Amino acid sequence: MIRVLASRWQGSVLVCGKCSKKLDGGFGEKGRTPLVKLLRQALGVKKGRKADRGVVEVKCLGVCPKNAVVMVDGARPDRWMLVPAGADVAEVVANLTVYAAT
Ligand code: FES
Repeated sequence: MIRVLASRWQGSVLVCGKCSKKLDGGFGEKGRTPLVKLLRQALGVKKGRKADRGVVEVKCLGVCPKNAVVMVDGARPDRWMLVPAGADVAEVVANLTVYAAT
């Protein structure tokens, strides 16, 4: 039997952790902050199901771009985004549907 847990998530974003690792972070002022961390800060979300959005670092998604990180907006799984290293986090957030809920 499958149990169901309530969650406050109104949206989700998947970010490839391996891409971030290959870039040694790749974002932020010094270029050493992982995209997932910057996104969580920008959206003001914490980890877990009690946050209002989920920003989840996942394993390799099989795209493996050079100098970019694969990101999937859970509300738009039909268009995966390749976020170039060093991209402005405000611009990244503006491309997410979860942003509309802020
Ligand atoms: S390393 Fe990120 S998609 Fe493969």
